[in-house]
Amino acid sequence: MIRFLTAGESHGKALTALVEGFPSNLKIENEYINFHLKRRQMGYGRGQRMKIETDTAEILSGIRFQKTLGTPISLLVKNRDWDNWVEKMTSDKRKAKVEKITIPRPGHADLVGISKYNFNDIRNSIERSSARETAARVAACSIARRFLEEFGISIGSFVESIGGIFPKKNYSEKLFNNDLPKNFTGWSLSELSDKSDVRVLEKEHELKIINKIKTAKKRGDTLGGTFYTVATGLPVGLGSFIQYDTKLDAEIAQSIMSINAVKAVSIGTGYEAAEKFGSESHDEIIKTKEGFSRKTNRAGGIEGGTSTGLPIIVKAAMKPIATLMSPIESVDLATMKSVDARRERSDFVAVPACAVIAESMLAWSIAKFFLDKFGGNSIEETKDNYRNYIKKLNNRIKSNFKNKR
Ligand SMILES: Cc1cc2nc3c(=O)[nH]c(=O)nc-3n(C[C@H](O)[C@H](O)[C@H](O)COP(=O)(O)O)c2cc1C
Repeated sequence: MIRFLTAGESHGKALTALVEGFPSNLKIENEYINFHLKRRQMGYGRGQRMKIETDTAEILSGIRFQKTLGTPISLLVKNRDWDNWVEKMTSDKRKAKVEKITIPRPGHADLVGISKYNFNDIRNSIERSSARETAARVAACSIARRFLEEFGISIGSFVESIGGIFPKKNYSEKLFNNDLPKNFTGWSLSELSDKSDVRVLEKEHELKIINKIKTAKKRGDTLGGTFYTVATGLPVGLGSFIQYDTKLDAEIAQSIMSINAVKAVSIGTGYEAAEKFGSESHDEIIKTKEGFSRKTNRAGGIEGGTSTGLPIIVKAAMKPIATLMSPIESVDLATMKSVDARRERSDFVAVPACAVIAESMLAWSIAKFFLDKFGGNSIEETKDNYRNYIKKLNNRIKSNFKNKR
């Protein structure tokens, strides 16, 4: 059983992550974690903060000579702007007058935060509800992503739309039709989308989106969007239909929905499937040399809470950023009068980054169910278990049904 926890405030000294349960001898280099941390910071429409900081993770424990020890891994992502925040965020006695924040932003966690935790300063709730926390998640989940690579499981993403601007070509159709090149991998999608400032797959689409973001910026407004996250190379049989919490689709939905500002998650054709006939919706089973496959992949790689072996296709929708430079109405809690919501340094759009975080969370969910199935205290043991299962799977099916023919 793998698990992770993160700690740290947005403008605190550092974020930390504690990761447990991975087998020993998994190779992981510091640069690998930093590479994905950097990807989380990309994207046209991000705020000033992304320019101040380039996140890097320091490994404090659990890894020796670039290999996991099977012990808890702790990671530290320093706040490079900490010197400017010491007075406001110190855990020590308050030494200077620090202005309290009293105007909650609609769409953020400000009002619910002070209500629930009985604070008299919204700063106390902003700090942890901020998506800065996802830097620690990306660092933690890169261990999962690296682990999955050992088994040929690859994860990538692309942005489908921002502010309602969709591409000419419907890329998801290709995924659902299982109309993919032989060497297609999840990561190949990110190799393409990472080249774009908004992580889309077409230049013309990128330009249209950038124009829309410029319009939003001029209006002091923000935008959201939709994105796809795809995992390839999974074996049949991760997850199960036995209990609500053993279903792979349920686990993935929880993981992706836990990302700040994500408001919808679907697997496969999702909402569209509800409008179709069954015959247009399900994936016909075919016999292949290796075993079985499907003509299409509208199910998005999961049936009965269990991986089918086809790519896992997850779509998610991110709402527009809550902090507006031309704010909407709120109430000043100090005067109880109607005022404009508070402005502060903020992103205009963060959909490209959100997709990278979704890759990380998807990696985590798959690794969790993978290790649940194959176990092992060392990576060598996990590989033995995995190979044994794959080798015998199709023969078992054949021999189990032999006498029924
Ligand atoms: C990568 C990323 C960056 C974000 N940046 C901001 C931001 O700069 N300003 C802001 O108001 N919200 C930002 N958000 C969204 C808020 O974190 C989120 O709306 C808030 O935590 C409330 O949670 P909820 O939207 O899930 O209800 C960001 C989200 C993500 C995923």
